[in-house]
Amino acid sequence: MEKSDIDELVDVDAGEISPRIFIDDDIFERELERLFPRCWLFLAHDTMLPHVGDYMTTYMGTDPVVVARQKNGSIKAFLNFCRHRGMPVCRADSGNTHTFMCSYHGWSFNLAGDLVGVPRYKEGYRGELDKSKWGLIPVPRIESYKGLFFGCFDPDAPSLREYLGDMAWYLDGLVDRTPGGIEVLGPPIKWVFQGNWKFAAEQFAGDTYHLATTHNSMFAGFPWLSEQMEATKRSDFGRQFSSRLGHGALFTAGEPSPRSIFSNDPRLTEYFQDELQRAIAHLGRERVNLNQVHTVFPNFSYIIAAPFLRMWHPRGPNTFEAWSWPFVERSAPPEVKQSVKRSAQLMFNPTGLAEQDDAENWAEIGRVLAAGRLNRRARLNYQMGLGRGRADPVHPGTIHDTMTGDVPQLGFYRRWKEFLTSESWPHVPESELRITGSGVACSGRSAGEEVPQ
Ligand code: FES
Ligand SMILES: [Fe+2]
Repeated sequence: MEKSDIDELVDVDAGEISPRIFIDDDIFERELERLFPRCWLFLAHDTMLPHVGDYMTTYMGTDPVVVARQKNGSIKAFLNFCRHRGMPVCRADSGNTHTFMCSYHGWSFNLAGDLVGVPRYKEGYRGELDKSKWGLIPVPRIESYKGLFFGCFDPDAPSLREYLGDMAWYLDGLVDRTPGGIEVLGPPIKWVFQGNWKFAAEQFAGDTYHLATTHNSMFAGFPWLSEQMEATKRSDFGRQFSSRLGHGALFTAGEPSPRSIFSNDPRLTEYFQDELQRAIAHLGRERVNLNQVHTVFPNFSYIIAAPFLRMWHPRGPNTFEAWSWPFVERSAPPEVKQSVKRSAQLMFNPTGLAEQDDAENWAEIGRVLAAGRLNRRARLNYQMGLGRGRADPVHPGTIHDTMTGDVPQLGFYRRWKEFLTSESWPHVPESELRITGSGVACSGRSAGEEVPQ
C-alpha cells in the first residue's frame, strides 16, 4: 500500500474519510506495523499492581505482554513469549509471583524477565547455554504520568510527557483531581465487540452527538440523566478539545457540578458533593468540570463521570476487545468504592444499559462493511464543526465551542494518518506546538484565533 493511497483515505481539510480505514486488512496490518509499536500505550495504573511480584497480562497492539512490579518498586513489562519455542510464559490474567515458568518445557524467568531456570541445563545444553541472551523481550520504555504507566517500543518516540502534550492538562482531571489520587477497582471486565477499534476510540474522543439517538431509551429510564442529556443539546453546555497530537475530549462547561455517578443513592450524592469541593481546592475550578469523556491517542479512553478506564485492544479489522476498570478516589470509604463499582458496571459492561446501545452501532457498521463492496467506495462525513476550532485562554489545545462536532475526531484521524504514512516516528513540527506557562504543549495560536481543522 502506497503512502498516497492512505493519504487519500483521510481528507482532514474536507472532513471526509473513507470507510475502508475500518475494514481493510492492509490498513489493519499497517496499524500493527506503524501505529501500535510506535505509540505510548497504556499498561496499568499504580494501584493495579500494589505489591512486589504483582503482575498482569495485557496487550500492546495485538502482542501479549506481562507487566510486573519489581523488587525495587519499579514496573517492567515483557512480551509474553518464551524464547525457547514461543509459548506464553504467563497464562493467568493477574496474580503475584517471583517466577514465570513456561508450561511447555519449563524454562523459568524472574520478575525482571531474566532466564533463571532451564531444565536439564547441564545434561541437555552441557552448561553451554548463555542464559543472559535468552531472557524475555522487554518493553524498552516504560514511563508513568502520575501513576498511569505507559509502554513504548520505539526508541525515537519522545518522552511520555511530550507525547501527551496538551492532553496532560485534561488527564489531571482523572489522576490528580483530589490529593490522594485514584484507585482502580479491578479486575477489569473484558469482552469482545464486533467492529473496528477506532469506532470506540473516536467516539470517546468527542462524540456527544450520538447520545440523544443511540441512548434515548437509556435516558428515558433515568429522569435525572434525561435532564443532562437534554442539556448536551445546548450549544453552551460544553466544549470539545482536540490535540495536535491526536488526543481528544469532550467536557462540560459552566459552574462545576458534582460527578454525575450513574446512581441516585443519596450517600453517593453527598459524597460526590464533598469530593467536588476537594477537587476545586486541589485542581482549580476550570478543570474539575472536565467531567466527561476523553481518549488518549490511540486506544486508551475514560469517562470521569461514570467512572471507568477503558482499553480498546484491536483483534482484527472488524473485531476488538474492551477492558473496563471502574475507579474511585483512593481515600473513599469502602461502601462508596463498592457502590461506585456496582453502578459503573450497571451501565458499562457487556450487558450494561449504555454499552449495549454502542455495541450494536459498531457491530452493524462492521457487518455492512464486511459484507459490502460498493459502500467502501463512498465517503463518510466528518464535517460538523469543520474549521471552527480555536485557541482558548484557559483550555490548552484546539477548542470547539460546543460539545457536539467532529473536531476531535478529525484531529484523531489526522494523527493516525501521520503514523501510518510516516517511515519513522512522526514528530510534529515545533512550529505547530508551543509550551505554555503551565508547561503544556498546545497549538501555537493566540487566544480567540481560528484554528483550521
Ligand atoms: S516453549 Fe517455553 S520452555 Fe519450551
Ligand atoms: Fe455511547
